[in-house]
Amino acid sequence: MAAVLRFLIAVLLFSSIASASLSQEEEEEFSEELLLKPLADRKVLAHFHFESKAPPTRTYGHHHRLFPKALYQLVQKFRIREMELSFTQGRWNYERWGGFDPISSSNAKPPGVELWAVFDVPHDLVDASWKNLTHTLSGLFCASINFLESSTAYSAPDWGFQPFSGSLRYGSLPREAVCTENLTPWLKLLPCRDKAGLAALMDRPSIYRGFYHSQRLRLSSTEFGSTELESGIALDQTLTVVLQPTTSQRASMTYSSDSVLQPSWSLSSIFGRKVSGRCVLAKSSNVYVQVERGLVSELKNLHAEDEGSGAGNVTFEKTWNNPGFELSIAPNRVIKEVNILHDETSIVLYEYLIDNYSNSEPFDLGFTWKFPVVWSSPQAPLHASRFLMGSGNERGAIAISLKATEPSDGLWVADTIENSCMLRFNVFQVVPWYVRVYFHTLQVFVDGKPQSVTDFIERMRISPSEDKVSPGVMEMALKLPCCVKSVTLTLEFDKGFLHIDEYPPDANQGFDIPSAVISFPDFHASMHFLKDDSLNKSPLLSKFQEKSPVLCYTEVLLVPLTTPDFSMPYNVITITCTVFALYFGSLLNVLRRRVGEEERFLKRKDSKKTGRLGQLLSKLFAKLRGKSWEPTQTQSASSSLISSKLIFKVILVAGIAAGWQYYSG
Ligand SMILES: *[C@@H]1O[C@H](CO)[C@@H](O)[C@H](O)[C@H]1NC(C)=O
Ligand SMILES: *[C@@H]1O[C@H](CO)[C@@H](O)[C@H](O)[C@H]1NC(C)=O
Ligand SMILES: *[C@@H]1O[C@H](CO)[C@@H](O)[C@H](O)[C@H]1NC(C)=O
Repeated sequence: MAAVLRFLIAVLLFSSIASASLSQEEEEEFSEELLLKPLADRKVLAHFHFESKAPPTRTYGHHHRLFPKALYQLVQKFRIREMELSFTQGRWNYERWGGFDPISSSNAKPPGVELWAVFDVPHDLVDASWKNLTHTLSGLFCASINFLESSTAYSAPDWGFQPFSGSLRYGSLPREAVCTENLTPWLKLLPCRDKAGLAALMDRPSIYRGFYHSQRLRLSSTEFGSTELESGIALDQTLTVVLQPTTSQRASMTYSSDSVLQPSWSLSSIFGRKVSGRCVLAKSSNVYVQVERGLVSELKNLHAEDEGSGAGNVTFEKTWNNPGFELSIAPNRVIKEVNILHDETSIVLYEYLIDNYSNSEPFDLGFTWKFPVVWSSPQAPLHASRFLMGSGNERGAIAISLKATEPSDGLWVADTIENSCMLRFNVFQVVPWYVRVYFHTLQVFVDGKPQSVTDFIERMRISPSEDKVSPGVMEMALKLPCCVKSVTLTLEFDKGFLHIDEYPPDANQGFDIPSAVISFPDFHASMHFLKDDSLNKSPLLSKFQEKSPVLCYTEVLLVPLTTPDFSMPYNVITITCTVFALYFGSLLNVLRRRVGEEERFLKRKDSKKTGRLGQLLSKLFAKLRGKSWEPTQTQSASSSLISSKLIFKVILVAGIAAGWQYYSG
């Protein structure tokens, strides 16, 4: 008996321990991080990153403490596997702000709204789910995302955009204006909103004054057993802003080498606020300052000149206080990127923990430049731009021009195959139906010379547009020898006609063709850090270490289409009103005149009878009417002639009016 009891107790104890350890593993998590990076063109990048995680429903249940309920229900209802929604204003400047780093690949977004989602439903239900999802998101984020419901507005890319065939839908609204009413619902998804923690820095005027801002929301879930590993739902919210620090007096000081000192900045100078403590619900609350590779190597040169010692072998004792710049607070940790290719110059990150700051002692990091430094940002292998060709209102051509960039420090030579260096890239382009693209007119110009399309295009998938039903989609995989300097793809198109109801307000502005996406599947913009457990705890740094393909968007194209003369209805209304006024005017005139004739006739009869009083009265009436009184004897013949003339006139005018109505209506 005792043995059995002991066994039972042991089992109970064991199970309770097991369940305790299980529940410890499965916790909702929230973390907030901010990355600050000085940019080469005197601006500052601020990248907020919030991550919420919910464990799988099967083991954890439906009740959440931190994870936003609205999004949990969204995932459950529409069976979303992946979803990304971004609101962007401004255009990411790939040349100056970099095109080969995790931030530009995943946070540089096309202007307006971009939404893509992967559903875990049978293929024939994907479209219905997408339509319902657009309506839900529209309500959630106060934006006209519901315009993506129409089949002319979204497409189903196969492999050109993301590798989810069949269940992926993609849509974008290039003209959507982004403002605070979209940011507020986005902030509501955070457990502390913008009341505490890093989100409190989001001062609306400072953010919307920036050169670029993009708010993004990315959901990924493994709820529906599509993968072996069940990790629940992860929600990433990022806000990427490019701000211009206000130049102070010192910045205008010019140095001998003609270069101007970069403007110094601090959190309070760029946001107008300070961080007064972390969001208490956050597991981690960190601020990072990133120093780019180009800047690090410039600083090393500077340091070497300063010391006059052997070049390139300097180890910064206090890297946050070097000849180039100074950080006002000593970082808690300095993280260096490990790179096999160039171990000398690698990205440096300064980490600050916000745990110990409070209202009485707020965190206000300052970055002061001490010497003018000029550097460049890493670039994607090709720089893409897109433009329109042709003139007139009937036809035109779209050209996508790709120019090879300077391979920065052999960044991407490692990825190429030894013998024949080949550069692979994908082009994904959606064209609205009213721009009727003739795909057979595709031409490829390599270094300015026309070339056969089949020599360079490895794979191509085209789904032609259908009028008022679906947009045209083009997915192309190209392969180029590395020595090529430039490639241009051109496609001719006809401009379609829209029904008057389909024109947007202000149609004369033109129509926007969404950005094309250029991706480089062989290149990965990831950072490598030393294997360290503490680094994996930071969601932002683990995001940076993920292998994500390099991606860039082209500009939005503005196509002028033939627009009807929208002032025509007003012209018709005005003319019709004028005609009616004339018609009724003359009609009234006629009626009145006939009364006058009769009056006069009667008066003439009466004047013989009534004598003086009557004459006086009629004189008075005549005075009032503004005519000289004369006891005339009008001929009844002439009066009838006048009236018949008038009636003819009235009928003529009425006829003209009726004719006008008939022909113009
Ligand atoms: C979408 O919404 C409609 C109307 O509310 C509903 O009838 C339909 O079942 C929904 N479809 C999906 C896939 O959720
Ligand atoms: C660089 O530093 C290493 C170790 O500190 C030393 O062995 C080496 O001689 C130095 N090289 C130069 C060029 O100073
Ligand atoms: C915060 O303060 C506590 C107590 O003073 C200290 O133990 C801890 O190391 C501090 N943390 C940091 C990151 O400074």
